[in-house]
Amino acid sequence: MKRKNFIIEYNEYLNKEELSKDDALLLEKAAKAAEGAYAPYSNFNVGAALLLSNGEIITANNQENAAYPSGLCAERVAIFYANAKYPHASILSLAVTASVNGKPCKTPTYPCGACRQVMAESEQRAGVPIRIIVAGEKVTQVVESTKSLLPFVFNTLPK
Ligand code: THU
Repeated sequence: MKRKNFIIEYNEYLNKEELSKDDALLLEKAAKAAEGAYAPYSNFNVGAALLLSNGEIITANNQENAAYPSGLCAERVAIFYANAKYPHASILSLAVTASVNGKPCKTPTYPCGACRQVMAESEQRAGVPIRIIVAGEKVTQVVESTKSLLPFVFNTLPK
């Protein structure tokens, strides 16, 4: 038997001025997208913005439904749309931000488990790591790959 471990590193920014222009722009677009969320049941608006390898930026938000499980998270709306529209582009960065009852969340909102699984497969399919940028009002955190968010990922693609 051997004891093993994962070490997960991430960058934390307490000062938004330190963010790169690309990351700051992506977060701005995610926050704008959150304003358009359809979230009458949770009042939790999530915005996601993706930077693609072809230079396009895709934005999306959560879409709820009276039949609750039929709704979809902002991240998956964005990823599925990007992969549908540009099947040959890879996702370089994904920014997420959220507000509750119209007030921006103070701490970052991390993607849920199902979104992590979808992100992981997009990353694996493209062979390019997806940076994930999550921001609250006070703190922004950046991980360099979905592997940091979903160690021990489930997959059936060829290894
Ligand atoms: N939600 C997202 O959009 N992304 C996540 O990663 C977690 C949750 C949405 C789903 C639902 O519309 C609302 O947030 C409350 O759960």
